[in-house]
Amino acid sequence: MSDTDFTGQGVLITGGASGIGWATAAAFAARGARVAIADLKADVAQSRAVELGDGHIGLGGDVADEAACDRIVAATAEAFGRIDVLVNCAGIVDSFAPTVEQSGAAFKRLMDIHVGGSFQMAKRAAVEMIPRKHGVIVNISSIAGALALPRRNAYTAAKHGLIGLTKALACDWAEHRIRVNAVAPGYVDTPFIAGAIEAGRLDPAIIRRRTPMGELLPPSAIADAIIFLASPLAAWVTGATLPVDGGYVAFGAASDAAVIEGG
Ligand SMILES: NC(=O)c1ccc[n+]([C@@H]2O[C@H](COP(=O)([O-])OP(=O)(O)OC[C@H]3O[C@@H](n4cnc5c(N)ncnc54)[C@H](O)[C@@H]3O)[C@@H](O)[C@H]2O)c1
Repeated sequence: MSDTDFTGQGVLITGGASGIGWATAAAFAARGARVAIADLKADVAQSRAVELGDGHIGLGGDVADEAACDRIVAATAEAFGRIDVLVNCAGIVDSFAPTVEQSGAAFKRLMDIHVGGSFQMAKRAAVEMIPRKHGVIVNISSIAGALALPRRNAYTAAKHGLIGLTKALACDWAEHRIRVNAVAPGYVDTPFIAGAIEAGRLDPAIIRRRTPMGELLPPSAIADAIIFLASPLAAWVTGATLPVDGGYVAFGAASDAAVIEGG
């Protein structure tokens, strides 16, 4: 059996109906796991689960709602009899408004989804994992967990916060052999970014020039890193944040990072 074979394992992915979460769901399903796709969009979560084939489930729920997190974890544990991997992918974009025009409610909502939701899902999933002395949790930070994105205060704070939460949970649960890690993607070609580009808030040409590898990343690149972190190849990796960003946060020169033909 290969190190990245997840046959028989139960995998729960929030935000699994789209983008990085969906690519991750497909990657785990292709490696034999049973996948629960949990998403605010219940209908899309269910049709995505059908797309993956027999044995997978789709669940609706808002990860900012504690009771919904409890329901999602309970339904997954009941369907699969076990939860081996939790991937916290649910997320929303920030307002991009000038800071003095930003609302406290929007700030709180973003923090509640990214940080509060990841905390609540992890806490509830750990109740399933602790007795089995096995489990892997992967949170999704960002280049915004290492660098500031102006006008995206809540997003920057949340993605920095997720790195701290990842370390704290990793240390707390190490004795139970539950590993907690994060990936920190650069700009990934998903509906999340496509929406910001369409709204004129991001310019793909500038992103490509600022990224040493000169491209927006495919969602599968993040899924591959999550597969690695969930696998026995990463058996001694916990509390870590793995940048998967085409070199974005490594680059610090006062110039473009990549020469783009025609860009
Ligand atoms: N795309 C990027 O460039 C990028 C870069 C770094 C980090 N990320 C992070 O990756 C994660 C996934 O982003 P994506 O690009 O795949 O976005 P996406 O918009 O394609 O998918 C996000 C999914 O989360 C779901 N969701 C949103 N709020 C939710 C809630 N309250 N409860 C349950 N589900 C909810 C949405 O319905 C959607 O299906 C996010 O945390 C995002 O911050 C994305």
